[in-house]
Order: sequence, then structure tokens, then C-alpha cells
Amino acid sequence: MTDTHTFDVNEIDLTDIGLWTSDPHPALHHLREHDPVHWHEADPKNPFANHSFWALTRHSDIVHVSRHPELFSSAHGVGSGTLDVPTNNFDTFAMLEVDDPYHAWMRGLVSAAFTAKLVRESEPYIREIAVEVLDEVAGRRDPFNFVHEVSAKVPIRVIGDILGVPRSDQHLLTEWTDATADLDDLTVDFEKGTGHSAKAAAAVQEMFAYLERMQQLRADSPTEDLVSKLMGAEIEGERLNWQQQRESFFILATAGNETTRNTTTAGVRALAEHPDQRRELVENPKLIKNAVEEMLRWGTVVSHFRRTATQDTVIGDKRIAEGDWVIMYYSAANRDPSVFTDPDRFDIHRQPNEHLAFGGGGPHFCLGAPLARLQLRIVFEELLQRFPDYRVVGDAAFNQSTFFHGIKNLPVQLYAE
Ligand code: HEM
Repeated sequence: MTDTHTFDVNEIDLTDIGLWTSDPHPALHHLREHDPVHWHEADPKNPFANHSFWALTRHSDIVHVSRHPELFSSAHGVGSGTLDVPTNNFDTFAMLEVDDPYHAWMRGLVSAAFTAKLVRESEPYIREIAVEVLDEVAGRRDPFNFVHEVSAKVPIRVIGDILGVPRSDQHLLTEWTDATADLDDLTVDFEKGTGHSAKAAAAVQEMFAYLERMQQLRADSPTEDLVSKLMGAEIEGERLNWQQQRESFFILATAGNETTRNTTTAGVRALAEHPDQRRELVENPKLIKNAVEEMLRWGTVVSHFRRTATQDTVIGDKRIAEGDWVIMYYSAANRDPSVFTDPDRFDIHRQPNEHLAFGGGGPHFCLGAPLARLQLRIVFEELLQRFPDYRVVGDAAFNQSTFFHGIKNLPVQLYAE
């Protein structure tokens, strides 16, 4: 990668939302080339950046950290935000923020409810949902916000149905999860509402009250949905307690929602910018599966996650001290020229495509990756078959977040006229 920019590495502020709502890649390339394990100083004036951290931008370093949880723990939070709360509290935190043995146990229980079979068998009904959502916009000749009308609707219906939230209430799930998305701190304390806007904290509380009602209804008469399965799942006689169920519900609702939505939108935009590649997909839908991998790499909608060093160690030529924060910039890894030829080129034929959009491997690798891949393939199969000439007719508006690198408004017109 030829770096033509004249940045000073110490002036690159990865906690600046403005960097992520424009094009972060010149700065990320510069960091990777000049200081791939970079000490990012805290900014006491910025509430989202009052903690220093190591910023990793090389693919190999991120894979190393992800696959060595004994050296790099998730149990002190995984966000880049303000709070350094120890999260290895088995009772209250979701699987994302705990280490083994808690993590393996909790992930085991959730995966027991969220099986590969469930994902495989969901193809026909995911297709129904995609067709239904596209039917709802098929009559529109005017431009509309594709994110709101299509990208957001498919994943929320899929995960809403899997969780057992009735269709009539799924708009609530969208409202609640949207309220938690425009923020930079995953290490929030939902009980106290700290590190979080009041709106987001209120939304989470409403979501949990709703879940409690769902659980009461299922206590005597279990159903086939995931809420019932989470209530009943058992490993060696142990079940998830109420708070663990609640955190599992929260992570499944949010993790599967914003991410798939943002990747869909990133793909729609990329294909509009690359009409030749889009034409190839229309003519040969078998290529869509591979194109989805490129959309995941290109969009990299989860920009980063954090770990905390459990002991003194080394990454590259830098000494990392016990307790240091280490942030893995997946967005940068996915454009690392030592792994991806011509990394700034969108290429539906790219193979191999060892992107880290779902994480760098290791125990926390995205649990929903098979479901996300399936949904994305189906959405693009249906979209390109029905609206092969769609056009993006205005600028994209980005999420106000350094974490979810996504688009919240993309004006699209379905027919070329
Ligand atoms: C394009 C869509 C998606 C992307 C880009 C994405 C990305 C990620 C990333 C980067 C991680 C952290 C990996 C790590 O720390 O090593 C993660 C974890 C997770 N994801 Fe996804 N995800 C997506 C869709 C989904 C879906 C559809 C679900 C489920 C409904 C889901 C559920 C989870 C869960 C439960 C975890 C935590 C796993 C653990 O800590 O063991 N994700 N995801």
C-alpha cells in the first residue's frame, strides 16, 4: 500500500467519531505502515477516550491477540469507552465480556439453543422475509432510505422470529436496539445507566421488562422459540440465571441486528459504485456467496474490540504491560496489504478472503456468522433478481459511532428511469 498521506501518527485520533464518519482508511493505512502497534494517548477532555491503549492495525497481530485469551482477556470490558469495569462477573455479563471457564459454559448454553441446524433450516423462511420486505417497497418509484426500509427490516424480523418476539412488537426491538447503537461504550452499567445516554439506558430497561413478560408467559407453557430454549438450556445440570438470560437476549438482539443491517447497506452501496461487478452477480447469482465475503471485508461494520493484557508480553517490537488496553482494529486488518492484494479495491472474486469482520478467531469468534452469511446471501439474491438496476441517488449518512461503522441513511431508487 503506498501511503501518500502526511499524517503524524500521534495526531491520528481513533476515538474521533469524525474519522469514522468520513473515510478512516488513509489514517489506518498510515498507522499500519508507520506504527502498527501504536500507543494511543488518552485525551482527558474526551469522555470516550480517557484511557490510553495500544492500537493494532496489522492482520497478524489481531489474529494473535484474538487467539491468545490467556494473554489478552475480555473480562475487563471489550469496548474502547470510558469504564474499566471488571466484567468477569459470571452472573451479570454476556459472553462477550467474560473469559473461560465462564465463557465456554455460557457460549455452550447459548449455542445449544442457537444450533447450526436452526440456521440451516431457516433458509426458506429467511427467503420469505426477504421477499416480504422487498414486496413492501416494490411499488416505490421515488427514492427512499434503503437502510430503514430494507437493510434494517430483514435482520430484525429474522432475529425477532428466532427469539420469539411477535411481528406486531418487532418495531419495539428495532427502537430499543437502535437506541443502543449510536454509542461508543459497550462496557456500560445498564443498572446505573452510567457510560450511556439516558435514552439508551431506558431502552435497555424496557427491553428487559418485555423479556420478563415473555418469560412469564413461557414459564408454564414453553414454546419453540429461543427465549424458551434459553430458559430450558442446561449443561451438566446448570442453567442460565435470569441475568445471564437477559444479557444473552440483549447480545443476540443487538449483535445480529446492526451488524447484518450495516453489511447489507455497505454491499448495496459498493455494488452501486461497481456496476460491472453488479452485472456479473445479476447474470451469475452463484457468485453472490463469494461477493458477500467481500462485502463483509469491505464494510467491516464492527470496527474494533478491546482486550486487556493479563501479563507483561510483546506484540511486534512493543512491550505490553499487564493491565494495558489493546484495541484490535478489524477495519485496518481487513485492508492489510500483506494479506489482501490491492486492499482498497472492491472485488467480488477475491479469493482467498481471510477477513476479520467476524473477529480474529479464538473463543469469541462471532457466534452468528453462519446466520449472518445466510441472510446476506439471500437478501442479495432476491434484491438483484428483482431490482438489478437500483441506483444510489444521494450521499450516505453514517452512524455517529466509532464502533458500529455503518450507514443510517442511503437514498436508493429501485428502478432506472
Ligand atoms: C455481518 C454480521 C455480523 C458481524 C460483522 C459480526 C461481528 C462480530 C464480531 C467482530 C464479534 C467479536 C469477535 C471476537 O471478539 O473475536 C462478534 C461476536 C458475537 N456475535 Fe456477531 N456479527 C455479526 C452477526 C451476528 C449475528 C447474526 C448474531 C446472532 C444472532 C451474532 C452474535 C454474536 C455473538 C453472540 C457474539 C459473541 C461471541 C462470544 O463472545 O463468544 N453476530 N460478532
